[in-house]
Amino acid sequence: MTTFWSWYITILTGGTLVGLTWLIFATRKGQRKDTTEETLDHAFDGIQEFDNPLPKWWFMLFVSTLVFGVGYLLLYPGMGNWKGLLPGYQDATSFKSGEKGWTGVHQWEKEMAKADEQYGPIFAKYAAMPIEEVAKDEQALKMGSRLFASNCSVCHGSDAKGNHGFPNLTDNDWLYGGEPETIKTTIMGGRQAAMPAWAAVIGEDGIKNVAAYVRSLSGLKNPEGVDVAAGQQLFATNCVACHGPEGKGQHAMGAPNLTDKTWLYGSSFAQVQQTLRYGRNGRMPAQAEFLGNDKVHLLAAYVYSLSQKKSGE
Ligand code: HEC
Ligand code: HEC
Repeated sequence: MTTFWSWYITILTGGTLVGLTWLIFATRKGQRKDTTEETLDHAFDGIQEFDNPLPKWWFMLFVSTLVFGVGYLLLYPGMGNWKGLLPGYQDATSFKSGEKGWTGVHQWEKEMAKADEQYGPIFAKYAAMPIEEVAKDEQALKMGSRLFASNCSVCHGSDAKGNHGFPNLTDNDWLYGGEPETIKTTIMGGRQAAMPAWAAVIGEDGIKNVAAYVRSLSGLKNPEGVDVAAGQQLFATNCVACHGPEGKGQHAMGAPNLTDKTWLYGSSFAQVQQTLRYGRNGRMPAQAEFLGNDKVHLLAAYVYSLSQKKSGE
């Protein structure tokens, strides 16, 4: 903050405090000390008011908020560039930002450091075990599910069953593969899907026909007037490189299986055409830097366990 804004805030805040202090004492001056039966000469719907001073405890509440305010502004950085007196936050070198004094960020860093110290060894213990083993450990799965709830559920849903554009992680249908190490690679590095847009390549008729062919692969009925055979031809020329000759998909490309009943972007004739016309570019954000290896290891075990449960039932 520049010196000007620092002073601007300091003077405004300090001035307001001084002003309020003056106000509360000035209005008290000249008031009677004792209580009285006399009423003020106004009435609201028959209700009248005694001419009494503020009760003492009430007045003291005002005073104590002022004292609190001054104390707070001395301890915490509320006055422009003032860093606050709070101990334990003066050591600049111990914080990433290099800034001095109390801030919400410093407080958070401190708590994170404490949590790392406490939980770090537990994470490290699991990180040294193979994912399949971790996936059988009840405590590990509990930790994994908590990590999932706070980091992954926004997109994949709290039950991990996904949503439009966000894959279901509890089934055995994988875009990139469901082997424990592959799941970990996905979470660590993220994934960027590249399904090209086809409108300019095969035209509107081509989109209709190939959409109909793709839908027929999973047994869906198509509207009249589409040429499924022409669609099959287009598929063979344009799509097999990624989706495979039978449309069963390829993990290396993140290309989904088009012959099953799970659809990432919807199965209606209109939705499939939309997918083909404009392409799709689902993005799974990388977690390596944000969560780190040990937490991702636990998450991979948790995600792996979700589909294992399903098939074991
Ligand atoms: C911003 C939304 C978002 C968040 C947050 C997110 N994901 Fe994803 N994730 C996606 C999308 C989108 C895909 C599909 C990418 C694609 O279309 O190819 C995906 C794919 C995946 C896959 C691959 C599924 C498969 O079929 O191969 C796994 C595993 C996964 N996510 C796990 C996680 C975990 C664990 C977390 C929490 C650390 C997480 N995701 C957080 C959006 C998200
Ligand atoms: C370069 C590789 C590539 C080519 C070529 C390709 N696709 Fe895709 N396709 C993908 C990927 C990757 C996805 C997943 C997109 C995502 O997750 O966001 C996808 C998704 C789809 C989907 C959505 C499936 C769902 O579950 O909602 C359909 C339908 C589809 N492709 C059909 C086709 C057709 C038809 C062609 C040929 C005209 C084709 N693709 C060509 C890579 C490709």
